[in-house]
Amino acid sequence: MAGEDHSESDATAARHALVGPGDLWQMKRQFQIEFLRGVGLKPHHQLLDLGCGTLRGGIPLIDYLDHGHYAGVEVRGEVLDEGRRELAESGLVGKQPQLVHCERLAELDLGRKFDVAWAFAVLIHMDDSVLNDAVAAVARHLDDNGVFYATVNVGAEPTASWQGFPVVHREAAFYADAFRRHALVMADIGPLTSFGHDHPRLSAEAQARQRMLKVMKA
Ligand SMILES: C[S@@+](CC[C@H](N)C(=O)[O-])C[C@H]1O[C@@H](n2cnc3c(N)ncnc32)[C@H](O)[C@@H]1O
Repeated sequence: MAGEDHSESDATAARHALVGPGDLWQMKRQFQIEFLRGVGLKPHHQLLDLGCGTLRGGIPLIDYLDHGHYAGVEVRGEVLDEGRRELAESGLVGKQPQLVHCERLAELDLGRKFDVAWAFAVLIHMDDSVLNDAVAAVARHLDDNGVFYATVNVGAEPTASWQGFPVVHREAAFYADAFRRHALVMADIGPLTSFGHDHPRLSAEAQARQRMLKVMKA
């Protein structure tokens, strides 16, 4: 029995590692629902979770939202499959989230509009061309009164890599221009720390570069 428990926790740890450091998984899960509820997300809202990964943030959101009001989009099929397993283990299949494996955001058409779009730790993993496709996809899917919240790294740090994706820092003005090209207006509403996100291994300066953007139709 002990062996079975061990392998189950290994599988869980492996799943969690697909979206970031295991020791920060719970904090990053909790942060997402708390932030979105804090800015007014209600159960009747339609939410698009861009780059939903394994549903680290998605599971509490699916639980909170009305049936069918959550849509998650993910580029890595095997990662989304882990999310589907997590959904089943959480007893939430009946909430009927729309989970979409999408390799090219330029072609994304979910056939519905959203009150809130969300990209947590996702735009930082896109090169400029993919970012442009992502912004266009958000613009296509956002309701006229919808809001898109996204986390980014600001500044001029050199690009690093993570699980085959880049880790990109950009100036806030670059993002503002990228959104403006798709008739969206952006505001930097502050560091993630001001909303309760705490990364114990990052310096205060590095944490100050992690920002929350709020984006709406112009
Ligand atoms: C750091 S993880 C965060 C996952 C999730 N947002 C969360 O907080 O748990 C970044 C995710 O973005 C996904 N991603 C990167 N580029 C993408 C793209 N072009 N389209 C959809 N998902 C993408 C990655 O596969 C990965 O699962």
